[in-house]
Amino acid sequence: MARESFANRTTAILAMAGSAIGLGNIWRFPYMVGQYGGAAFILVYLLAAIFICVPIFISEAYIGKSTQLSTFGAFEKLAPNTGWKWVGLLTVINPIIILSFYSVVGGWSLAYLFKSLTLSFTDASATQEAHGAVFGALVGNKWAGIAWLTGFLVMNFGVVTLGVSKGIEKFTKITTPILFVLMVAIVFYSLSMPGAKAGVDYLVKPDFSKINGHVMLSAMGQAFFSLSLGMGTILTYASYMKKEENLVSTGVYTVIFDLMFALIAGFAIMPAVFAAGIEPGAGPGLIFETLPYIFSTMGRDFPALSAGVAILFFTAVLFAALTSSVSMLEAGVAYFVDHKKMARGKATAIVFGCCWIFGSLCCVSTRLFDFCDRLTSDFLMTFGSLLYAVFVGWRLKKADVLQEIPRPIYFMVRWIIPLVIIAIFISNLVMKG
Ligand code: TRP
Repeated sequence: MARESFANRTTAILAMAGSAIGLGNIWRFPYMVGQYGGAAFILVYLLAAIFICVPIFISEAYIGKSTQLSTFGAFEKLAPNTGWKWVGLLTVINPIIILSFYSVVGGWSLAYLFKSLTLSFTDASATQEAHGAVFGALVGNKWAGIAWLTGFLVMNFGVVTLGVSKGIEKFTKITTPILFVLMVAIVFYSLSMPGAKAGVDYLVKPDFSKINGHVMLSAMGQAFFSLSLGMGTILTYASYMKKEENLVSTGVYTVIFDLMFALIAGFAIMPAVFAAGIEPGAGPGLIFETLPYIFSTMGRDFPALSAGVAILFFTAVLFAALTSSVSMLEAGVAYFVDHKKMARGKATAIVFGCCWIFGSLCCVSTRLFDFCDRLTSDFLMTFGSLLYAVFVGWRLKKADVLQEIPRPIYFMVRWIIPLVIIAIFISNLVMKG
């Protein structure tokens, strides 16, 4: 039976971009920038995305495309009866951990959509403190947090069990451009606020003294997280690509789209953060304290617009989050279905159950939330990416790989990337020790 494949390159790029563009760009990127000192972090992030992520993206995609199999099968085919198949385990563990804390933030987005619908962000006289207190109350109320998280997970569960992924993909094709346009509009609005200039400086004038091993690891981890690298998602999507399609351009386009969304989110948030006097290092709550402030001040200038912008914006964010989270849920489910020969409903229930329990714990404990957030990108995804690079650079036959991957990129994959990742890991261990 012929295996399904993406109709063409555009479809492949859209699917990969759908997985990549999500809360990682809109929620995580701005808060990481704020915690790690602005422009210097962005610079390391950009270098990592271009010089490390593009080659890793191509390597990971190569494994899937050349075997037309997902993780476990692909490693079994390319390196039969070796320990390499255990790399596939990252495909199950990673999505479950990510989905757990991701759903907490997905829940916040849902809560904020609800708040927009009930016109909570239209009072132009509301102070920044008042908006901060709204977020504080949401995080402080564990039961509400768990309820919103459950809502977000149920939406995921519904999409996966009803098999309507195709439906939401169609929807995302509409909401993603809307998100883009709204974010660009918010950038302009945010730049026009009094005091915004300090935020722009913060984003474009790097303070190199801020760069250390920890910042480098965090910037690299953010790049991996944002691109869904190192955990088999890109590998699996690439397994649906047609032979004649080009991995390099697919990789470059996906990275460009993803970078664009992250940078625009940064420029939408940071000027307003400075204009409102919010602490840039506020952490995971940053966008939830800043955006409502932007929306409600908009109400002063454009009364009719503010509620509409808020509603559209949080709807679009929710869909961006859903396309990412559904593909995580799918990754876990596919493992139980393909390798444990489990029925699909049962597999989905197991993954859902794990994420619900673990996600609720993340709601209750901020420390656990932070731990999972950091563990996945700084360690699991980075480590997974290292393994993919080493596999393609050292284990596979050079002549085969060179048919798809240009020589300079192969050189990066074989030498530079493993060395850089290991060096950054070591410098972190030394720093902590
Ligand atoms: N890239 C996604 C985002 O930016 C998050 C993510 C990380 C992800 N790993 C993934 C999505 C694996 C799908 C599959 O929001």
